[in-house]
Amino acid sequence: MSASEMLQVKVWRGKADGGLVAYEVPRQASQTVLDVVTYIQRQLEPTLAYRFACRVGMCGSCAMTVNGRARWTCRTHVAKVVDDQGRLEIAPLANLPVVRDLATDMSEFFDKWARAKGQFVGKATRHDDFARVAPASPERAAANAGIECIGCAVCYASCDVVSWRPDYLGPAALNRAWTLANDVRDVQQTERLRAVAGDAGCHSCHTQGSCTERCPKQLEPTISIAGLKRKVARAAVRGEL
Ligand code: SF4
Ligand code: SF4
Ligand code: FES
Repeated sequence: MSASEMLQVKVWRGKADGGLVAYEVPRQASQTVLDVVTYIQRQLEPTLAYRFACRVGMCGSCAMTVNGRARWTCRTHVAKVVDDQGRLEIAPLANLPVVRDLATDMSEFFDKWARAKGQFVGKATRHDDFARVAPASPERAAANAGIECIGCAVCYASCDVVSWRPDYLGPAALNRAWTLANDVRDVQQTERLRAVAGDAGCHSCHTQGSCTERCPKQLEPTISIAGLKRKVARAAVRGEL
């Protein structure tokens, strides 16, 4: 195989104090970055640690840093991201502890969803009729706009504020809080607004929008966070927080 038919791939090995290791991988038509990582693990380096499940952009587990930018690797074609010399650099997501190689520890990312009251709490019982929420209502539209989050942490890894202050709840947890803040069936609205109103909450967002620019599901956490800021401000004026 000629050099032009090979990709020059550097992959992060080890923990946070590890380093990049070089591999050569044959180019294939329609190859994804996850295909490249899988080739390395199956053919060249069986101890390589990485994470994936669905391979079709649904589970959110395959995100990595590819040529300096967080991406979902199962839906990222090599042709779109490789440089002119056929080079790829693949590292774990930023802003999260490295377990090993390309696998990050997602615990604090999801702990922040819990801290932002990202769980639905209703009051209906199995004996009640289904809730009816008008499809055209502004609340339902706002909730629907953010609901397709797959928890991939691409936004979280792309957020400067998370880098600067690790206690910041981050775009995904706040986006989740916004979908629930618009869920008319949910009964912990004041508690949720309190949870996102603190120093590490929505007011820490500088609104520059890396999260929105990079979200592979085209969600807009920046808009969600702006909505939370408005709701928090209104609740504070009413003396509810
Ligand atoms: S807009 Fe806010 S949440 Fe999004 S990347 Fe910037 S600081 Fe982070
Ligand atoms: S908001 Fe987008 S980038 Fe962030 S976790 Fe959800 S799907 Fe991933
Ligand atoms: S493997 Fe599930 S989103 Fe990529």
